[in-house]
Amino acid sequence: MIDQANRVNKNILSTVLPNPDFDDGLTIWDDAYSGQYQPVVYAEQFDGQWRLFLERKRGYCNHTGVETSDQYIDDRIYELTGIQDVMLRRRFGAFAGMASKLSKMAGKQSKRAVGGKLYLEPKFPLDYFQGKKCLDIGCGAGRWTRTLLMLDAQVKSVDVGENALRSTRRFNADTEYLDIFDIQSRADLHAAFDFVLCWGVIMCTHDPKIAFQQVASTVKPGGSLYVMVYAPTYHVSEFVRATRLKFHRECKTAEEKQNFVMNIAEDPDNAINYMDMLNTFYNWTIPQEVVTNWFKEAGFKSVVVLNEHEPHNCAWHVLGTKA
Ligand SMILES: C[S@@+](CC[C@H](N)C(=O)[O-])C[C@H]1O[C@@H](n2cnc3c(N)ncnc32)[C@H](O)[C@@H]1O
Repeated sequence: MIDQANRVNKNILSTVLPNPDFDDGLTIWDDAYSGQYQPVVYAEQFDGQWRLFLERKRGYCNHTGVETSDQYIDDRIYELTGIQDVMLRRRFGAFAGMASKLSKMAGKQSKRAVGGKLYLEPKFPLDYFQGKKCLDIGCGAGRWTRTLLMLDAQVKSVDVGENALRSTRRFNADTEYLDIFDIQSRADLHAAFDFVLCWGVIMCTHDPKIAFQQVASTVKPGGSLYVMVYAPTYHVSEFVRATRLKFHRECKTAEEKQNFVMNIAEDPDNAINYMDMLNTFYNWTIPQEVVTNWFKEAGFKSVVVLNEHEPHNCAWHVLGTKA
């Protein structure tokens, strides 16, 4: 399956594909562009950063965007539910308060902020995910998969990256290779999940509208979908556009790419954030009304932008519940 998908994509890549930004000056997605751009080798785009994470390379681990260790998962649980130290309490029971104080005193909590934190409102109740059948699409190294598992959900994790799957399999046996654009041929996934998460994936594809429709098709009636996509803010800035152009047109080898990232990162511990925004061929930003409209067209009745009031937001975090 992987080989076949890669072969098809590599054939497409062997012709020079037009890039919406570098060739056509387009950074803000409009549904009228649907069907105009071609897929690329999605299996490769992010996988180098997941490999560097597994190798514990500086800048690619100990970061909010990737880390899967207990303390980081506690931070993700806090972002979703507003409840602190859930894992810590499970581990230390009555001594959790003391363990938390010691960790604060050692400055460990502020060190865990590299990569930034999420400001989501309203929060999910702590028992919201309990027993729910969840799907993590584009699971990456698996931080959200592990967060949902720790909140007692049953989770299926899918991605196209070999190292993403290797990382997520460390804690979830139900992890498999799946391209978003192949969901339509997977009847077993249609209307099958209570909660679907697709965090930071859709806008990095050739056709975010179709990608969203595929993702939305997996949600059961009454189930919920949480999608994160870039907003037309930071990611349309001259800095991002100019560095992406250089990265794609001037850096030839993986080593040149890593060096380029280290040169532009304001903090070497934050390298993965820069690699993440540079490495994708497509980096669409999506207007809020476009993404909320996708939800409505797909039959979602309540649609909430969870970070609507976040200052300087660079993404939309949108939650919808299917009718
Ligand atoms: C920015 S990362 C986000 C990872 C994860 N959701 C998280 O928040 O940590 C995007 C992930 O989507 C995956 N991805 C990209 N294109 C994909 C596609 N067409 N089908 C499935 N997964 C894809 C990448 O391999 C990568 O792991």
